[in-house]
Amino acid sequence: MQLITFIILTAFLAGLALVHFVRAFKEINGSKYPPGPTQMPWIGRIHDLPIQLMWLKFKEWADLYAVNGFYRTTMLGANFVIVTDEKVAEDLLVERARTNSDRPVIRSLFNNKSSMEYLPLMGRSQYWARQRKLTHAYLTEATNAHYHGVLDFEAKRWLARLIAHPDGFQASLEDMAAKVMCQLVWDDPLLSGECAEGAWGLLRQMSPAGPITNVLTPLWHLPDVGPLNPWKRAERRRHAAQRDWWMERHLCVREKMARGEMRPCWTRQFLERSSKMSSSSAASVSAIDGDPEASCMLGMLALVGIFTVAGPLSYFLVSMVTHPHWQAEVQKEIDEACKGQLPTLADTPNLPVLRACIKETMRWKPNVPTGVAHETEADDVYNGYFIPKGTRILPLDWAFLRNPKKYPDPDNFRPERWLEVGWPTYQGPLTQYPTLKGMSSFGWGQRQCLGQSLTEDELVVACGALAWCFNLRPKRDPVTGLELPVPVDKSNSLLIIKPDPFDMAFEPRSEERRQEALRLWCEAESKDMRQRADFLNRHRTQEDEPTRKNASFQPPYEVVVGDMSSADEKKDETAYRFGLAAAGGEAEVAWQLVSHSSAFPITMQ
Ligand code: HEM
Repeated sequence: MQLITFIILTAFLAGLALVHFVRAFKEINGSKYPPGPTQMPWIGRIHDLPIQLMWLKFKEWADLYAVNGFYRTTMLGANFVIVTDEKVAEDLLVERARTNSDRPVIRSLFNNKSSMEYLPLMGRSQYWARQRKLTHAYLTEATNAHYHGVLDFEAKRWLARLIAHPDGFQASLEDMAAKVMCQLVWDDPLLSGECAEGAWGLLRQMSPAGPITNVLTPLWHLPDVGPLNPWKRAERRRHAAQRDWWMERHLCVREKMARGEMRPCWTRQFLERSSKMSSSSAASVSAIDGDPEASCMLGMLALVGIFTVAGPLSYFLVSMVTHPHWQAEVQKEIDEACKGQLPTLADTPNLPVLRACIKETMRWKPNVPTGVAHETEADDVYNGYFIPKGTRILPLDWAFLRNPKKYPDPDNFRPERWLEVGWPTYQGPLTQYPTLKGMSSFGWGQRQCLGQSLTEDELVVACGALAWCFNLRPKRDPVTGLELPVPVDKSNSLLIIKPDPFDMAFEPRSEERRQEALRLWCEAESKDMRQRADFLNRHRTQEDEPTRKNASFQPPYEVVVGDMSSADEKKDETAYRFGLAAAGGEAEVAWQLVSHSSAFPITMQ
């Protein structure tokens, strides 16, 4: 080719590309769309949206560009409407819920929209409709039954663990939330470790700050051969392990039911109800598609209650350590209202200051700061602006909760805004308000969170127990004696956040409180073991009798009983300690129960 021909051709192609670019630029920034930062064709504003603490940038843009509570941006071809005013969220996500309640694709998951696995991330499919209904039924029933005492039980265990290992508080906090869910779903607190691991695995995988393929989405489509696509390979492994684990749990419950060994829990409830139904009514009432779907629905329920509750609970510690005045107020209220006893769920109406501090913690440090995106299923026009089908609507909770009109002095921790007449958010009577229920943090419309009551109840019980037992203080540097700072602005950047690791001290409020907390746990644990033993004695099927007698129990961890050396001695002593000797000398049953029940080595004097 002649040089001149080459130059003309290159100039022509460059001109064509420029015309195309200008047209695309005009189109994407056209006035029919809601206002927002200037967009580059296709990439939009991906180049200056940080992955870390993304909600702060969204808020910065909101202050610059939002008109009447919303603005628009785009990223790699995806269209976003960022909502910064609660009224707009009401209009778009509640009033227009019929077309605005779908979920977007999460690139680094396999088929999150169409699969049966992750209820909160599903598209508006048949799986979503029936799983939401059943999940709602289980959670409501558990709330009405005060969670069968599980919250109080796990709070007592947590206090004992904090007394024994205060420095491991972040791990034991998360483990407490996991044990609550594992008891409710499978009646097995020992599953908490694996369940929490699964929870963080999924949370990371679905977050923009997780795999790079959630942001640079085209990378996900690289050929899945050799080392070219490590992201798909890793996700395939995680996904298969998670499904297998959920299915194992499900089948294990079924087997235990057949042997008469399964106490009530959601999985047993599901299996009993579905086996009782005739095939025709099963189709109409439950319609869950056999074990694969049921195991996912129940497994996801266990998982979602971990990272969601662990965040506000961690931030409650931050709030209390950095606001000792409010900590003292909470302690005073608990001591007076509960007359020195450990608070329980039944005390909730009498603890408005505690509820205000919990709610203000969730306002001050929202743990889903970007909100969870809904996707539109039809073209729409809102306030004169065009919102095309497939737009992701992001209800920016960080912005809602920093609205200075509704929350004066929004950057500071001010629990009095929920307690004193004159603040815009005050609502009486204080026996009922403040309540977490209905907070913008739980989302909107048809996709609103189903775990609001459980969250509130678990936080009241756990935070109440903390304030009853401990003075929550900054930790001192062992060398300098100076207080170690507790940062208030450091967190991860996953979709659901928690503070970065920090140090703090848990000082029992008195020796009597320390002793009482340990006594309460010892009492609760032995009662639990007795109940489990009684259940096995009453319900195990006759055919299992020989197997049970010959069973050799494998404790998963060491239980230290006095200074006894042999396992047999430990078994006998354990049975004796828990009154099982009198109930038939079932040392092995007791041994199984002890190893099953305690989550850390316990020493009995
Ligand atoms: C502080 C605690 C929690 C917060 C801030 C929270 C927040 C949220 C948010 C923002 C959504 C999405 C709402 C929307 O799309 O508009 C959601 C959905 C959901 N939450 Fe929660 N949640 C919490 C605790 C829990 C707990 C403890 C459970 C149950 C054990 C739970 C179960 C669910 C379920 C099943 C959904 C899916 C609803 C659907 O897609 O239809 N959440 N939550």
